[in-house]
Amino acid sequence: MNKKIMIDEKKVIYGLQKIPISKKRTKISNLFENISSDYDKMNDLMSLGTHRIWKKDLVDRLEREQFVSNRKTILDLAGGTGDIAFALKKRFHQNEITIMDLTLDMMKIGKKKALKKNLYTGLNWVAGDSAYLPFAQSTFNNITCAFGIRNVAEIDKTLEGCYKVIKPGGKLMILEFSPEVIVPFQKFYEYYLKNVLPFLGDKIANNKEAYQYLAESIETFYNPNDFCDILESVKFKIVKLKKYLSGAACLYIATRI
Ligand SMILES: C[S@@+](CC[C@H](N)C(=O)[O-])C[C@H]1O[C@@H](n2cnc3c(N)ncnc32)[C@H](O)[C@@H]1O
Repeated sequence: MNKKIMIDEKKVIYGLQKIPISKKRTKISNLFENISSDYDKMNDLMSLGTHRIWKKDLVDRLEREQFVSNRKTILDLAGGTGDIAFALKKRFHQNEITIMDLTLDMMKIGKKKALKKNLYTGLNWVAGDSAYLPFAQSTFNNITCAFGIRNVAEIDKTLEGCYKVIKPGGKLMILEFSPEVIVPFQKFYEYYLKNVLPFLGDKIANNKEAYQYLAESIETFYNPNDFCDILESVKFKIVKLKKYLSGAACLYIATRI
């Protein structure tokens, strides 16, 4: 019986391969556990610090969406080591922010950072899989997710869950890499993903395989139009698609109607 379930389990993209959902979940969790201590340093190096600008822009745009200043509840999905949650907490002191992530070691680093930054109170840390959100319907005013969605094993289920737990009128803000950049830079971008990223992963984090996966997961992620279609297929309405660095990263702002 168990054997049959294993054979029939739906397969999903993991880098360049297709593997069963449960295997992807385990591999992803192990991968981020292994790179957790180098994660922040590698992010700065790989993006030459630009991930900070994109994350700040996400928070700026969220501020524009939150016209009134009273208390809001925000879920930062696949929140990892807490960058988005800390930026949100600094900007909106009254908001209640929940960080959810699959990998305990990523959140452990995040909690240490929160203590150092004196931002520990008012942040809730929840361990779990984004496809199985342990929250009641219409719990959050907004949901953010930075560089997490392409790593989750069940993207559709995650988005459907987001739709349920966001209040009507609330925004889902997803920041994610795209496999496409504008034509003059496409070859360079592909070279960077295939060669530079695994090289840096090897030299700095001593983990070429993990960074090779991260590069491959970008190459095989949806292009922006297809990802907008997926958001719309789970009933979100696309409000804005903002591209950064010639399209290498995209911010999807979608409304729960
Ligand atoms: C590239 S990191 C992004 C972390 C953080 N949001 C940032 O921008 O720095 C991806 C994160 O997604 C988390 N993740 C992957 N699959 C997940 C899932 N199914 N549910 C929740 N978190 C998941 C990983 O544990 C990891 O912390």
